[in-house]
Amino acid sequence: MSTFTIDSGTSRATPSPVPGKRMTVPAIRARKVGGATAEPLVMLTAYTMRMAQLLDPHCEMLLVGDSLGQVIYGLPSTVPVTLDMMCAHGAAVVRGSWHSLVAVDMPFGSYEASPEQAFYSATRIMKESGCAAVKLEGGEAMAATIAFLSQRGIPVIGHVGLTPQAVNQLGGYAARGKSEVEAKKILADARAIADAGAFCIVVEGVMEAIADAVTAAVGVPIIGIGASARCDGQVLVTEDMLGLFERTPRFVRRYDDLATRIGAAVETYAGEVRSRSFPTSDQTYRPKGG
Ligand code: KIV
Repeated sequence: MSTFTIDSGTSRATPSPVPGKRMTVPAIRARKVGGATAEPLVMLTAYTMRMAQLLDPHCEMLLVGDSLGQVIYGLPSTVPVTLDMMCAHGAAVVRGSWHSLVAVDMPFGSYEASPEQAFYSATRIMKESGCAAVKLEGGEAMAATIAFLSQRGIPVIGHVGLTPQAVNQLGGYAARGKSEVEAKKILADARAIADAGAFCIVVEGVMEAIADAVTAAVGVPIIGIGASARCDGQVLVTEDMLGLFERTPRFVRRYDDLATRIGAAVETYAGEVRSRSFPTSDQTYRPKGG
């Protein structure tokens, strides 16, 4: 874990020692050689500067996911998330990271209409946030858009399987690929977007065997979430794995129970405020020598 020194001019915390060059798209892509990735890639979601600082030393990629709709804004799904939100949070995460490649989700409605619409939205996200890549949901139907973007200098991460922006069409967030037709479609989707130029693909909420088949069949790194330990990497929503919510989806392992720990800390604070045992002389100002 790195430590931080504060740059008093900018109030920016700079890690010490300062890490080397940021991960690049070719470096991520090159991690899969001959169809296999020796050491799995680590990706987590980040939406804020401080969380990015804490995650950055441990990850290859930080994803500014549109899951921020639910996690940060309390929205019912990712459908209402806007480009403004993604640009603002993307910029915060870029400011808080030095090592990881930062990718920002393209929100629902910002890319599906045409490759040109996707190009304008993606360039806005990249210019305003400073991120190195965008992620968009969809398989064969998005292949032409992914080709259009990647041929114009916009690195794209694909996202197939359970695609949360399509929740209204899917009728919920159940795992995908239970039928043979659906399984074949997920594989065809992953192949199509890899052929179109996606440099890496998130496979979410699919039967394990499908995740394995996609990982074996596709030449670019496959990042699983609710997928398989044999994927080329894994991603989770950070707040889920830290235990900030009462409900944990089946595919999440909780590495902490921050909700309980925050509740206990705040209960102690509230008690000390009410009993006037906070603040004490350690936390109050008085004239020197007084
Ligand atoms: O929005 C998000 O956080 C995501 C990940 C869960 C892959 O797309």
